[in-house]
Amino acid sequence: MDKIVIDGGVPLHGTLSASGAKNAALPILFATLLAPGEHRIANMPKLVDVSETLSLLGRIGCPSLAGSTTRIDTSRVVFCEAPYDVVRKMRASVLVLGPLLAREGTARVSLPGGCAIGVRPIDQHLKGLEALGCRFELEGGYVNGSTDGLRGAEIHLDVPTVTGTENIVMAAVLADGTSVIHNAAKEPEVADVCRFLTTLGARIEGIGTSTLTIDGVARLSPASRPYRIVPDRIETGTYLCAAATAGGDLEVLETDPTLITAVTEKLTEAGCTVEIGPRSVRVRREGPLHPIEVATAAYPGFPTDMQAQLMTVACMAEGRSVITETIFENRFMHAAELGRMGAHIETQGNVATVHGTGRLMSSPVMASDLRASAALVLAGLAAEGLTEVLRIYHLDRGYEDMVGKLRGVGARIGRVSDEVRDEARLQQALSA
Ligand code: EPU
Repeated sequence: MDKIVIDGGVPLHGTLSASGAKNAALPILFATLLAPGEHRIANMPKLVDVSETLSLLGRIGCPSLAGSTTRIDTSRVVFCEAPYDVVRKMRASVLVLGPLLAREGTARVSLPGGCAIGVRPIDQHLKGLEALGCRFELEGGYVNGSTDGLRGAEIHLDVPTVTGTENIVMAAVLADGTSVIHNAAKEPEVADVCRFLTTLGARIEGIGTSTLTIDGVARLSPASRPYRIVPDRIETGTYLCAAATAGGDLEVLETDPTLITAVTEKLTEAGCTVEIGPRSVRVRREGPLHPIEVATAAYPGFPTDMQAQLMTVACMAEGRSVITETIFENRFMHAAELGRMGAHIETQGNVATVHGTGRLMSSPVMASDLRASAALVLAGLAAEGLTEVLRIYHLDRGYEDMVGKLRGVGARIGRVSDEVRDEARLQQALSA
């Protein structure tokens, strides 16, 4: 396994480009199942989660050619299952449920279970699909779903779940009649999936709002042009926070600044200078950072996927910051690791109080999930000396070439096998 080594305390300068959004790419790949034939998806991020998804689709019977424009042929479906060994590694595989039920009338998906950030049930996915005419049975850790035909329905979600909304929309587009999803998730990635579905011939109104009205159609077919995935707002926000923690002047290009207002506002409050371009965001931090108060919320609120990274920013501010996590019940695992780097963070339930000192110390740390890993990398960029971030396979799941992108803006960062311990070889990794 690899680890990341960072020689921190170096301000970041320059530009880097955002990749396509992981959380739009995955559902869009699953959505191709709804329209038999050849699809081309552009701005596809190069991520382990994307290759896992393509490999699952391959098992289902749909071969693909991965690349920045990925081609996938969904003409045939031969296997309607997402097995445990796949779902265990990637929860998003639950997104096969809606498309397979809509296309084949049957689907068998391993229950995802909990993960490092909480229990994460899928009851709302099942409730919505049941309303559309699916039946589910639980057997040996699997959900076996079937339907004799989907029909439109009125669905009220108890929580505006992102993948739950996507699963239900993907089934409703081929249902007989009209469906209305109330309290739907408004996240830009959900909107992107809906826009993709409309290019296949789906009829969806209210895209980007909490009420989605879907007029089912008899069939969908692949679009003639490649569909371009929305830029990754979380990746963008992560690099902006990197400039805030390490200092400097960094611009993220090829992004959509309108999707990360909640993040840029917090960085401005923290004392950074933020400049918004039509497709870019630039952050400068020269002086000290101010403490912040933030509570995560569904879009357009502050994203839970940016909470860990903002906590690192708070550590680099002088004074008391308060961070409240309202989406997941156990998403402060990074606080203890940041503690190893000298941060003083008290957590009580879903509230973390950060007593920032304006500095972090280098140390070996271990990542527990994707965004926690990113937060630790940001901490390493800010702390003087050598920081090692272990278990970085999480990062490969969700950040395309993070090491390369950060190097491009002046970070002294490298990747090396976690067996390597002697200082000279670690230093070598920084310049490799
Ligand atoms: N929830 C339920 N029942 C359900 C579904 C969700 O109670 O049936 C609860 C969850 O337990 C959680 C809340 O609703 O407390 C929100 O969960 P949601 O379902 O919206 O999350 P998700 O769809 O599993 C997606 C992203 C996550 C991101 C969340 C919240 C994908 C593939 N994943 O997960 O991304 O944190 O929405 O925005 O889209 C990440 O990229 O690091 C990541 C974890």
